[in-house]
Amino acid sequence: MTQRDESRKKGRHTATVLSNVRAGECFWKMRLRFAGEAAGAFARFKPGQFIEFDASDLAIPTTEDIPKALLDGARRSVLLRRPFSFSDVTVQGDATIADLLYCVVGPASLRMTTLRAGDIASLLGPLGNGFTVPHGKRTALLVVGGMGLPPIRCLAKLLSTEHKEVETIAFIGARTMAALPLEERPAAFEEGLSLSVPTFATLNVPSMVATDDGSAGRRGPVTECLARWLQENADRDREKLIVYACGPERMLEAVARIAKAKNVGCQVSMERHMACGIGLCQSCAIECRVEGSSETVYKLCCQDGPVFDAREIVFGE
Ligand SMILES: Cc1cc2nc3c(=O)[nH]c(=O)nc-3n(C[C@H](O)[C@H](O)[C@H](O)COP(=O)(O)OP(=O)(O)OC[C@H]3O[C@@H](n4cnc5c(N)ncnc54)[C@H](O)[C@@H]3O)c2cc1C
Ligand code: FES
Repeated sequence: MTQRDESRKKGRHTATVLSNVRAGECFWKMRLRFAGEAAGAFARFKPGQFIEFDASDLAIPTTEDIPKALLDGARRSVLLRRPFSFSDVTVQGDATIADLLYCVVGPASLRMTTLRAGDIASLLGPLGNGFTVPHGKRTALLVVGGMGLPPIRCLAKLLSTEHKEVETIAFIGARTMAALPLEERPAAFEEGLSLSVPTFATLNVPSMVATDDGSAGRRGPVTECLARWLQENADRDREKLIVYACGPERMLEAVARIAKAKNVGCQVSMERHMACGIGLCQSCAIECRVEGSSETVYKLCCQDGPVFDAREIVFGE
């Protein structure tokens, strides 16, 4: 096999950076343009799939551009690629445009901030299995925790364009208003469901915000919004509802518990450290139930997931 065939097999691609801007207190938005073979590969990208971004050759920002909390770790090696989802993917003629919304938390994401328009980004993808829309569903309840937003935003777009028969509602949670990864903030955060959050309103998806400290929307965990909605809509046909969630594992566990108690289908996007992203290193194992048995097996988050049926996952029990 030639080197070129090998790189095709592994989905190693490059993309041109169209823009890369700070979009909030700690998060950035990078817009990438895929051309040629990569444009075809990413045109088929499914919400919830991911890429492994190579930041190993990128520059470290100057000291004054490094957040204080990251000064110590900024120079750590970034030999391993890092997993990221896309919040939007659009086919434009021969090209595919993808938006990467990322939080600056360590050496790789810090280096990513130095990319400028015209630079070339190197990555593997599309990887993993994304969200699916089972036949017969009429209402999708999307639950976001902090940086779990990108794949859920991508899913909201798919539902609003290709599954117009599905009513879609988003519950968005974060610790504080500053930690909400929303590019455009509403003039005022309403407490109930509304079309006030531009990220979802532009897709005609009503949403509700909850923060732990009450600085935006309702005070308290976002899972309470989901539980309340299910309670208030107890007369709906459960078979026609589906819950989708991405966020911290404790939130996913609560979402899974609520959905199970109400007998509603639920898909969760799981996070693990992913050293390779392609099933080789076994660093991303997730304990899963075996249907009809008390046994469990380990599945790979990068290959079998990251999206799983919530009933499969053995959360930290
Ligand atoms: C499928 C998938 C999709 C993702 N999509 C996005 C996205 O769209 N936007 C975004 O900002 N981030 C996303 N992430 C998280 C992102 O991969 C990490 O934040 C990444 O490690 C950052 O690299 P870093 O070198 O900057 O920080 P690191 O030094 O790698 O990490 C900083 C801190 O975060 C912890 N951490 C990193 N990755 C994980 C993980 N997977 N699980 C638990 N703790 C972790 C580390 O232990 C460390 O304490 C995604 C992760 C997965 C698995
Ligand atoms: S990240 Fe290497 S096997 Fe999953």
